[in-house]
Amino acid sequence: MNDSVSALFDAAAQVRQQAHAPYSGFAVGAALRAEDGRIYVGCNVENAAYPSGTCAEQAAIAAMIAGGARKIEALAVVAGSPRPVTPCGACRQRIREFASSSTQIHAGNLAGARQHFTFADLLPDSFGPDALPERS
Ligand code: THU
Repeated sequence: MNDSVSALFDAAAQVRQQAHAPYSGFAVGAALRAEDGRIYVGCNVENAAYPSGTCAEQAAIAAMIAGGARKIEALAVVAGSPRPVTPCGACRQRIREFASSSTQIHAGNLAGARQHFTFADLLPDSFGPDALPERS
């Protein structure tokens, strides 16, 4: 694993410690590297009204947008799961908006298990901005 991937996993594991996950007990951290070279991070934020909770990937994407970047080059997600945690279906679609088929998605757990995917591995034949007609 190269240094830039390790840096993403480190950032994801660090922000995971800030997660607000009192209902599931499942803290998640995500870190992405954007086209500006910066790393943006996010953690899951649960809510007493359960469906109002948000995912770690969603938070990292929001941070990227607020920071002025628009393209995900690579993303890592980490949780205390038995196997490396992969983005949920809804987050795969959220990532789709700002990724390409070759965007690297790295999954990990706290024990150090790692899996590596391209975005197209996780969401083949996806629906995205290019499926919509041009707006005038
Ligand atoms: N969760 C994430 O933040 N990202 C994922 O990829 C999987 C699930 C969160 C949502 C919820 O707060 C908790 O993990 C349990 O599903």
